Amino acid sequence: MALQRRAFVLGGHITPFIGKKHPDFIWKRHPDFGKKENPSLEDYIDSAVNGALESTGVPAEAVEKAWIGNFVGELFSNQGHLGAAVVGANEGLKYKPIMRVEGACASGGLAFASALDAIQAGSDVTMVVGAEVQTTESARTGGDYLARASHYKRQRSLDDFTFPAMFARRKKAYLQAHPEASEEDFGRLSVKAYGNANKNPLAHMKAVKMPLEVAAQAGDKNPAFLGNPDFKDFLKVSDCSQVSDGAAAMILVSEEGLRKLGKTEADAIEVLSLSYATGNLYEDDDLLAMNTTKAAADKAYAEAGLSADDVKVAEVHDCFTIAEMLMYEALGFAEQGKGYELVREGATELDGRIPVNTGGGLVGFGHPVGATGVKQVLEIYRQMKGQCGDYQVKGDLDVGLTANMGGDDKTSVVALFKNLK
Ligand code: CAA
Repeated sequence: MALQRRAFVLGGHITPFIGKKHPDFIWKRHPDFGKKENPSLEDYIDSAVNGALESTGVPAEAVEKAWIGNFVGELFSNQGHLGAAVVGANEGLKYKPIMRVEGACASGGLAFASALDAIQAGSDVTMVVGAEVQTTESARTGGDYLARASHYKRQRSLDDFTFPAMFARRKKAYLQAHPEASEEDFGRLSVKAYGNANKNPLAHMKAVKMPLEVAAQAGDKNPAFLGNPDFKDFLKVSDCSQVSDGAAAMILVSEEGLRKLGKTEADAIEVLSLSYATGNLYEDDDLLAMNTTKAAADKAYAEAGLSADDVKVAEVHDCFTIAEMLMYEALGFAEQGKGYELVREGATELDGRIPVNTGGGLVGFGHPVGATGVKQVLEIYRQMKGQCGDYQVKGDLDVGLTANMGGDDKTSVVALFKNLK
């Protein structure tokens, strides 16, 4: 949207993202197994909401409206109606207008878009929450639940792991169309994600190492786990985002909101533009391009008066390594079909010309689906404000970008941000 009223992200809170292979995640081999439980969806919403209020110093009473992004609380946690769960986190929010927003893995991004709409319509202080718990079931059952983000009737049968298979299909098409690209290029993306996560205390994969010799090919330590013989050879565990639990929440305000809260522009980053686009759930698009993301990005750049060359740091939706590759192309970081050259150049690594997914992305930081779009915005905020510790990018990060995607490129939310000093 072209912004009629200026909008500012004032910061917020990200909980640790955890799941299998995270040292604090309780499962069979953990010493607390049978004695303690992992945090619930309710616990995560509570931590994110109150963490965001505390870290920004904004009283709950000052929040005028809030949104929560969540995909399938009903399936993993037997819980829907999450607007009211946000009130459950803090009495100061009671009787305020709060609703849940759903757009598969772009639920968090759409919650952000909704709050921005409200700022345009006259609200001054809003909250955006995103949360998901997915570890209450096996990865295989979770694969069925997540398949609700595809066209279930037509696509569920692709594989027990529907989404991994859909992106293996894209990776197969990419490798066939661009024979110069190799499995090792995708391995490098995974090594970057895990390497960045190893520097990030909040990351699901903070303690797991991923050397290139493991990531670059299937093997005992990195199985090709799909059942569908057409796609099995085109996806390994290292290519996949994690089945994570976690939440994030942020405060989004107008200029008037900044003033009311006693904040200055230097406390905030500005939203320059946000665009979201939606494709047709019932048809397959070009496997070699993310055209919905491209439509959203083209509009976001035009409205901000910027181009891909202006972006200094980005968070993109790497649900699988092939998604990150195709995002580079859809967002204009690389020409169509040339994303692998950007990877080989190291351009998107922490010390590269355009660092992408600096805290590990969905592959390394983790992917509690409803939380991801909110976490991405907060990661840009934290990078711009120099709060990223061991994975802080050096230099003047004046322009940042987020791209959050739902389904197989069916809902995409792209936003551009400017640091204010
Ligand atoms: N050899 C062969 N097969 C093996 C194996 C080995 N050594 N180890 C595991 N497997 C196979 C087995 O079949 C196993 O399933 P079962 O145990 O049920 O038989 C399967 O792989 C999974 O193994 P695990 O349960 O041990 O694996 P895990 O818990 O470590 O999970 C993962 C790994 C399956 C890749 C999981 O992380 C995953 O599903 N990731 C993707 C999550 C996902 O799809 N998220 C949504 C992204 S899409 C998006 O963002 C858009 C949207 O809107 C949805």
